[in-house]
Amino acid sequence: MTLVLGIESSCDETSIALVDGDGRILSSVVASQFDAHRRFGGVVPEIAARAHLTNLPVLLDEALALAAVRLEDVTLVAATAGPGLVGALLVGLSEGKGLAMGLSVPFVPVHHIEAHALSAFLSLEGPARPIPERFAALVVSGGHTHVFLFEAGRIELLARTRDDAAGEAYDKVAKMAGLGYPGGPLVDRLAARGRIEEPFAVARFKDGSPDFSFSGLKTAVRERLEAQGLRSTAGQETLPEEAAPEALRNTFAAFQEAVVAQLEDRLTLLWNREAFRVLSVSGGVAANGLLRERLPRWGGRYGVEVLLPARALTSDNAAMIAFAGLVRRREGRSDEGLAAVARSRWPLVR
Ligand code: KG4
Ligand code: ZN
Repeated sequence: MTLVLGIESSCDETSIALVDGDGRILSSVVASQFDAHRRFGGVVPEIAARAHLTNLPVLLDEALALAAVRLEDVTLVAATAGPGLVGALLVGLSEGKGLAMGLSVPFVPVHHIEAHALSAFLSLEGPARPIPERFAALVVSGGHTHVFLFEAGRIELLARTRDDAAGEAYDKVAKMAGLGYPGGPLVDRLAARGRIEEPFAVARFKDGSPDFSFSGLKTAVRERLEAQGLRSTAGQETLPEEAAPEALRNTFAAFQEAVVAQLEDRLTLLWNREAFRVLSVSGGVAANGLLRERLPRWGGRYGVEVLLPARALTSDNAAMIAFAGLVRRREGRSDEGLAAVARSRWPLVR
């Protein structure tokens, strides 16, 4: 029986998962480091690496116990090799290689963004869905807002953000208002309780490029917050979520609408060009309430099946790493195995 052990340590989440040969998640445990980084308002690389080192052995025992399997039953080990923080990546990558060597099983280095893109095919209840020959993948996270076209083993980049990633924009507007980190879930909840009084324009490039841009929107939000006297300059958490005034909730509602409307706008441009029939949407921002409501509806209009991972699988997790390792191995794509190095940058296109 195929049993894949997946390890994720590219940023501020340590995770270990066990996935079987059908892509069924037997266990997936995640240790978030939010509290360790919170007071710094962002991820501190050294703290992240050290926390991974402490968390991994604990998570490994937990994941094996939850899946009711033994380490010796593992037939394949997969770990994130990049992109991400090199120190953090090294911890999981070395652990993965060591385990694979000790168990005498193959090791597969995984591309974190490819794993996100494939996470939409996973299910919390049963086996993974079959992966079509051709599909588009929108990856929206704190570091990426990219659309790729997966076709017969090849991956093409169709669009990317030219400045901030969508999740980064969420985190920054939250910080501007003095809210906590990460800002995405906070802004999502507050926006849901606001209403749009004055919309923000949807950014578009003059040349009709399907690329994304969120920095203009971020500036527009900053200016509006300043005009409303809601801008926090303290640079730290000063506003509890419950105390967010109505005007702030309304501004966030308009911000969130502009983000989702831009995603829809670009997907339409790309669909006109590439006529894809399946779209996977993944990454931390794929947990967003408005996005989850609107993108499937967008798909309905264009005859595109929009696949969203369960919320638990949108943020960084090792289940998607194990699954991507399994898919990679099945496709028989050559990779470096134990020779893989940690890469802070690693283009997905091939
Ligand atoms: O994929 P992820 O866990 O980490 C990487 O960036 O790789 O994504 C984290 C990002 C953060 O920017 C966070 O604020 C954002 O996803 N995020 C959200 C929501 N939940 C997380 N953004 C909008 N709405 C959400 N509900
Ligand atoms: Zn990620």
